[in-house]
Amino acid sequence: MHSTTKLPIADSIAQQHSNQLLEHIKHAIADAGGKINFVDYMQRCLYAPGFGYYSAGSHKLGSKGDFTTAPEISSLFSRTLAQHIIDVFQQIESKNILEFGAGSGKMAIDILLELESQNALPEHYYIIEVSADLQQRQRQYISSSIPHLLPKVVWLDTLPTNFIGVVLANEVCDAMPVHCLHFDNGVVKERYIENINNTLQWCESELSQAELIRHVEEITPLITNSDDYFTEINLAAKAWLASLANTFQQGAIFIIDYGYSKTNYYHPERNNGTLMCYYQHQGHDNPLILQGLQDITTHVDFTALAQVAFDNRLQVAGFQSQADFLLAGGITELHTTRSDAFNTLKTATEIKQLTLPSEMGENFKVLSLTRNLEQLLSKVQLGDRRHSL
Ligand SMILES: C[S@@+](CC[C@H](N)C(=O)[O-])C[C@H]1O[C@@H](n2cnc3c(N)ncnc32)[C@H](O)[C@@H]1O
Repeated sequence: MHSTTKLPIADSIAQQHSNQLLEHIKHAIADAGGKINFVDYMQRCLYAPGFGYYSAGSHKLGSKGDFTTAPEISSLFSRTLAQHIIDVFQQIESKNILEFGAGSGKMAIDILLELESQNALPEHYYIIEVSADLQQRQRQYISSSIPHLLPKVVWLDTLPTNFIGVVLANEVCDAMPVHCLHFDNGVVKERYIENINNTLQWCESELSQAELIRHVEEITPLITNSDDYFTEINLAAKAWLASLANTFQQGAIFIIDYGYSKTNYYHPERNNGTLMCYYQHQGHDNPLILQGLQDITTHVDFTALAQVAFDNRLQVAGFQSQADFLLAGGITELHTTRSDAFNTLKTATEIKQLTLPSEMGENFKVLSLTRNLEQLLSKVQLGDRRHSL
């Protein structure tokens, strides 16, 4: 358990905003007859229009926000990703990029600048972003940083049909709402949220949908200590990848996130699951506070995604640690372009943050999926871990 007692206090405007979302959630609980399942609660906390964590106008990413992602740590991350993109571009006619959940827009900027410097710009850089607020921030940041490349960037509300190109999803699946489960003396219950005496509380009931029952059947044999075991299932990520696979004609999909293979995700010792909340860079495990002000996230089950890919005729081309993906993409060669002592030190620190096992190098993985490519993407096979999926 991670303590919530030392969390920073929200200011009165933020608290008022959070209270409004809380009231909205309490109404939803009442309308649903007394409880909503956690997936519904998490969806509202993160994405309720105007109030959810990602939908409302506060700083989420970077040092002033609640958490930092790899593209925010260093442009070397995106510039290295661009080298992998070029490998795919060499094999396809129609060169496009589709980024899901573009956050601040920084990754798009750094990728486009790197591709421009290598004379490899795409026809379009599409962005699909569920948060209207973040869409607006992305547009502002991109138009002020790279105005000459803005015409390449197109925001879409729906998946393009017959997409050919490269799809990117960095820390997107971990932000999708999950179902929470409790294996209690061999009986599996879904976790819900109820409102008792004006206070939100956990409660448990039957599994709410057939797809969940199917997934539970798959993971149950792995959970050998099912006496008291809490975990999560991300059906949204599976559905997202299935619909993407449906419209994806040729190219590669790079899914980058923190997570594990199935056996590791549902390891008997991981008996408290992976659900975490982040508020002003402090992690804890109570999603029933700070509604709309804190991020709620879970690790990704990469086996589940690889299975969806396989079932939908995508090739699982690689499964690597982030460190191996970046080293294969040449991150250490890119840094030589900054030469003075200060920048050399800064760059070395950034590379360490992105690649050291104790930092992001090991916990973060890259799942590379391809379709209709004639040649293997050799770089995504350095330190290949597909056998672990
Ligand atoms: C943790 S942030 C990561 C942002 C950015 N990719 C980065 O690495 O800095 C998650 C992002 O995914 C977006 N998101 C979540 N679910 C999504 C979905 N189904 N489609 C598109 N964007 C989504 C959120 O609005 C947010 O921009």
